Amino acid sequence: MRKASFKRIFPLISILLALSSLIIIFSACTGSGNENESSGNGKNESFNYSFDADISQYLRYLNPKDSQYKLLVNKKNPLGKNYTPSSLVDIDTSLTFLGKNIELEKYTAMAALAMLAEMKADGIRGVYITSGYRTYEKQSSLWYTYIEKESNAHPDWSSSRIEQEVLTYSARPGTSEHQSGLCIDFITGEMTELVNYGSETPNNPYDIGFAETAAFEWLSRNAYKFGFILRYPESKEGITEYNYESWHYRFVGQAAAAEMHETGECFEEYLNRIS
Ligand code: DAL
Ligand code: ZN
Repeated sequence: MRKASFKRIFPLISILLALSSLIIIFSACTGSGNENESSGNGKNESFNYSFDADISQYLRYLNPKDSQYKLLVNKKNPLGKNYTPSSLVDIDTSLTFLGKNIELEKYTAMAALAMLAEMKADGIRGVYITSGYRTYEKQSSLWYTYIEKESNAHPDWSSSRIEQEVLTYSARPGTSEHQSGLCIDFITGEMTELVNYGSETPNNPYDIGFAETAAFEWLSRNAYKFGFILRYPESKEGITEYNYESWHYRFVGQAAAAEMHETGECFEEYLNRIS
């Protein structure tokens, strides 16, 4: 009698077990409850930010798990002459300053497109990418331009003092984060009026202005939602070893950016804490 009823229940139990396995597999595949999908290296944490623009096509790029997005590039951690990012994409010239040809690492580019779309939807106009990936040679040419400029401005300075000055705002070739393709310099029309772009300006034409723009105010509140951090914050010069750069944003992915937004750490401090 007992055996007979077990025989009848057994198929039922098997069906129930099979069904629950299917449900588990299905929810793992769809990542139900997650707004974002991962880059393919495992499931992402959920970031249920709400956006005004339709950026659904970019969501899967905002929080990649790959450790390259936590690559530290600074004076003590150079990339060297031969480093090139694994995947570079062209940015549409309608989004670049004066229609320049600019490339960015693929996920950085996608996150930047999402962020620019959201800025536009929030009424922030006239924001352009003015610098992205730079080759070693491009950084070298910038570096020597600044050396020459400082030499002309301070004919009585020694060459080492001139280098020290340039090093406060420009990276030596091989040590610039721009060579990683993971960062962006922004500029706005508002800012170009402020600095009279193209005329003689202080050390760097971006020194004045960007921190005063609506774009900067927006980025301060929202950049982390797209995985970007302000790479050289005011008051962290002693750690980053560069002057404050209100226009330079680094892509690290949403999880890391959200943590830094919360703690107020700069990238070096964050990496130091989690290592
Ligand atoms: N202006 C930043 C530090 C660079 O040259 O990469
Ligand atoms: Zn920059």
